[in-house]
Amino acid sequence: MKIAPSILSADFANLQRDIELVEKCGADYIHVDVMDGQFVPNITLGSNVVSAIRPVTKLPLDVHMMVISPERFIEDFANAGADILTIHQESTPHIHGALQKIKEAGVKAGVVINPGTPVVAIEHVLSLVDQVLIMTVNPGFGGQKFLPECLEKVEQLVKIREEKGLTFDIEVDGGVDNTTIGACKKAGANVFVAGSYVYNAENPKERMDALRAELA
Ligand code: DX5
Ligand code: ZN
Repeated sequence: MKIAPSILSADFANLQRDIELVEKCGADYIHVDVMDGQFVPNITLGSNVVSAIRPVTKLPLDVHMMVISPERFIEDFANAGADILTIHQESTPHIHGALQKIKEAGVKAGVVINPGTPVVAIEHVLSLVDQVLIMTVNPGFGGQKFLPECLEKVEQLVKIREEKGLTFDIEVDGGVDNTTIGACKKAGANVFVAGSYVYNAENPKERMDALRAELA
């Protein structure tokens, strides 16, 4: 079970401090949300920020690309030090080719689907990926309400993974907190992204401990 705090809710003027903080609290990945203002109605950061944070942590950088035609930026993010590059099925007509490109760049490949997209849309690329991300909110912003109906897709993926003898991780992202993480685990997820719950808190350590306790 892995916890991946999302720096979307960190203090961007103190990114190093906020990354070190969650690393000390037992984070497994640092989740980095890349938004282009087109695929989602918000702009965050680019590969230059990934380069800048690469030396401040030993943790894998789990980069979630919410951009149109992400294949344009795969090389940049791989060179910047991303460990996992996860791209949206909805963001390119060439999801298969784009995932191949990520693997060729020597980075772990992830595919992600929005709440409105069914699992069947990614069935034919599952053998290519190291991770599948199921969005549990509509992407774009931190602090939104968890959509429990998305967990059915996690259950479907667990079944398909077994049938096909595959080994990808299943990650959930959006509205994950101490009250929702248990249901995600029960459905079969093993990587849990949490942004506002961890960072918008007086004591992030307590929040990380509370998430970990729910996974025990
Ligand atoms: C949403 C992002 C998430 C976001 C999660 O578009 O992909 O990673 O940071 O934030 P919370 O945990 O606050 O829902
Ligand atoms: Zn994300």
